Amino acid sequence: MNSPLRTLHLTSDQTEIAADILRRGGLVVFPTETVYGLGANALDGAACRSVFRAKGRPVDNPLIVHFYDLDSVCAMFSPLPESARRLFDAFSPGPLSVIISKSLVASDHRIADDATAGLNTVALRIPRHPVARRILHATGFPVAAPSANLSGRPSPTTFVMACADMDGRVDAIVDGGSCDVGLESTVVDLTGPTVRILRSGAISREMLENVLGVDTVTAADSNGAHVTDNERPISPGMKYTHYKPRATVIVSEASGFRDEGDFVRRAAHSAGKGGRAAVGTIRLSGNGPESLHDRPGSISEENGVVAVFQGTAEEYARNLYRLLVWFDEIAVDVIVAELPPAAGVGMAVRDRLLRASGGIRLEPN
Ligand code: TXA
Ligand code: MG
Repeated sequence: MNSPLRTLHLTSDQTEIAADILRRGGLVVFPTETVYGLGANALDGAACRSVFRAKGRPVDNPLIVHFYDLDSVCAMFSPLPESARRLFDAFSPGPLSVIISKSLVASDHRIADDATAGLNTVALRIPRHPVARRILHATGFPVAAPSANLSGRPSPTTFVMACADMDGRVDAIVDGGSCDVGLESTVVDLTGPTVRILRSGAISREMLENVLGVDTVTAADSNGAHVTDNERPISPGMKYTHYKPRATVIVSEASGFRDEGDFVRRAAHSAGKGGRAAVGTIRLSGNGPESLHDRPGSISEENGVVAVFQGTAEEYARNLYRLLVWFDEIAVDVIVAELPPAAGVGMAVRDRLLRASGGIRLEPN
């Protein structure tokens, strides 16, 4: 990296300043409803190249291009495929990215090849976070933005996490509080004979099928890194390692481990860490702090266990990356995460946990 930049911290009502920096080819980290994004003018090749440098991202991994609304998408891509229009009608603004052919560009303004890593397809997204919307409205051009983490780290879901990774690497970071969804958008590929989910997110397979018709949607495997397809290239991002905390992650189906002590001992044993390991647990129910605002979990002094209460799958999704980072900060050896039921955003939580665990499971008695 070159000498560090002096990074401005902007409040959520300083979006005009953010838009101005983007207009001049600069980099701005901004909140979306999924995770914080690291944005650049999608029409400006040099600006897009600097996104890859700031993140340490491999240059063959394309960026998602963010638009203010469906009209601004249609102004650039014409005709917009019917399936893309239907999905955006149903789910935009919101946590969905759709991949279409880049050759449908209607206007003189072209998405930079650097944004799409030279592919002939492009991922489009219309985010719903009010700060993202104000920035996109003010710029008038689309903004290419990957998640604002350094490569190999979890996507930031709070301003503090975004600053930890991006201070000194970008021109500005806009504070938009905690992200509502907490996991990256659902990525749907519309360029082939079947509609494929390349990355699961808050817009679930059932929701997509309700709009597009049943049985039209196929989902990528959770071990997506190993998915191969003779017809079409898979999402380039799938071949890169996903975030793994320093601790060993073990997943278990949510199925009532009756005895907490036994659960923790067996977890430490499964991870090969012996009896004295510090174990962090993510449970779907149980006793825990009433509020997750100050810190994501609670430390129970009796048995040295970190116990975290999570209510719904939505709350689990919202707090997952923050929790994993916190577990690393307090130097937990083993993380045991109960998997939420495989429905709705629970699918996306399961997907991220299965990737982080490399498939290690704890079976109930
Ligand atoms: O929620 C989100 O989508 C966030 C916020 C900032 O919008 N962005 C995000 O971007 O997660 P990123 O770059 O971290 O993940 C984008 C994923 C990568 O796996 C990439 O390979 C895939 O989408 N992707 C982007 N364009 C693609 C294309 N044309 N074909 C296939 N996959 C594509
Ligand atoms: Mg990412």
